[in-house]
Amino acid sequence: MLLERQEILKLIRSAVEAMGKAYVPYSHFCVGAALLTCEGKIYQGCNIENAAYTPTNCAERTAFFKAVSEGEKNFRAICIVGGMEGVLTGYTAPCGVCRQVMREFCVPEEFQIILAKSEEEYKIYTLAQLLPEGFGPENLGKQV
Ligand code: THU
Repeated sequence: MLLERQEILKLIRSAVEAMGKAYVPYSHFCVGAALLTCEGKIYQGCNIENAAYTPTNCAERTAFFKAVSEGEKNFRAICIVGGMEGVLTGYTAPCGVCRQVMREFCVPEEFQIILAKSEEEYKIYTLAQLLPEGFGPENLGKQV
């Protein structure tokens, strides 16, 4: 089901709020995510960097792992915002690893990914558009 303007606004504001918690002493690039469940609950996430670099967790995965660890498995949309020192100058698209994590729990043709620059400027994609021909649970005979 398509998102209404009010739902989009709420997600953008929530993602911006989450971005404020980003732990980014190395890149200074702050990212915030707001993940909407099919029941209407929002899970926020920020990126969390690490001195050893590779343990860094993206904002999107933080939101997904928080939600899944609370028992959520049905998701409608995620909104992502990001920028150097928290200033939104461009769109922040999810990295390949995060797209793959979304693929595990979302229907690619239905899950909506909102990339926002402000409350007025945003683009909406489906996961299928950002991860075509992805490898998912069905490939291993699983029905999520
Ligand atoms: N980052 C995210 O949190 N999400 C993305 O989709 C892209 C990259 C973070 C990881 C790292 O903390 C910083 O942005 C720079 O790569």
